[in-house]
Amino acid sequence: MESALPAAGFLYWLGAGTVAYLALRVSCSLFTAFWLWVVGNEAGVSLELGEWAVVTGSTDGIGKSYAEELAKRGMKVVLVSRSQDKLNQVSSEIREQFKVETRTIAVDFSSEDIYDKIKTGLAGLEIGVLVNNVGMSYEYPEYFLEIPDLDNVIKKLININILSVCKMTQLVLPGMVERSKGVILNISSASGMSPVPLLTIYSATKAFVDFFSRCLHEEYRSKGIFVQSVLPYYVATKMSKIRKPTLGKPSPSTFVKSALKTVGLKSRTCGYLVHALMASFTLALPSWIYFKIAMNMNKAVRAHFLKKNKKN
Ligand SMILES: NC(=O)c1ccc[n+]([C@@H]2O[C@H](COP(=O)([O-])OP(=O)(O)OC[C@H]3O[C@@H](n4cnc5c(N)ncnc54)[C@H](OP(=O)(O)O)[C@@H]3O)[C@@H](O)[C@H]2O)c1
Repeated sequence: MESALPAAGFLYWLGAGTVAYLALRVSCSLFTAFWLWVVGNEAGVSLELGEWAVVTGSTDGIGKSYAEELAKRGMKVVLVSRSQDKLNQVSSEIREQFKVETRTIAVDFSSEDIYDKIKTGLAGLEIGVLVNNVGMSYEYPEYFLEIPDLDNVIKKLININILSVCKMTQLVLPGMVERSKGVILNISSASGMSPVPLLTIYSATKAFVDFFSRCLHEEYRSKGIFVQSVLPYYVATKMSKIRKPTLGKPSPSTFVKSALKTVGLKSRTCGYLVHALMASFTLALPSWIYFKIAMNMNKAVRAHFLKKNKKN
């Protein structure tokens, strides 16, 4: 009887300690979430970093919204995208609305020989922010060997989603390091966080962007450079083929406003509270359940696409 008393005391303190530890962890998480998603860091991106922002894939969707939000903060913007007509239109919209200077560089990121032209276009500019946003995905989910024009798709996905991020960084980072300040925002995807079968190459290219960003952040944070890996779920854009924004699939403007508030606070983020909650849920699933769901969802999308296109 007597020897049971110290054991009971020990268990009491062990239990109390565990409860206190868990309470502290939960409070810290809630405080961090409040700070990140409610308060945010409006000053994470500003003119202080440098006069110019460069955005790739900036004539539509998420890239266009980044260009607009950066211009709203007073930054001059270099728009780098494919079609000169669309560039001219977005450029004049931004100039009129935000009264900032703009420049355009028309290049196709599926080619490898465009970087001298971009280098010339950026020469002499004090670049504070680079948004590596340009990206392409599959036309529809498909088994690797059955992707139409596979050779070309492999080349385009690698050049647009991977090469562009490395080469743009190579062009812009030296100036940032010289001035000991700068922000690089790399748009990965939730499919770079959890592998997505039937979008295999896309998913793998986005994992590259995530790893590249996280490593680069560690290499250059002490030199004053903040590199962020942004991993969104669906955003209502041309690429996702979602026309009507919802709470879970926000408009590019809603998404970018939210993501920009995390700059300086989080080097790896879904960018949007609902997407962060979706990520916590997905990552908590056992991988066999996750893969079963992801595979079945994409099989259904594939079947729907093939049926619809057979009819037309
Ligand atoms: N939307 C989503 O649900 C989602 C989710 C996760 C991650 N992301 C990522 O977010 C980024 C932006 O996607 P988004 O949905 O905003 O795409 P989007 O609406 O299709 O816009 C893509 C932009 O990139 C330009 N572009 C496309 N291919 C190009 C090329 N070969 N050379 C030069 N410019 C090119 C487009 O110009 P044109 O107008 O001339 O085509 C357009 O300005 C991508 O990296 C994507 O992987 C998107």
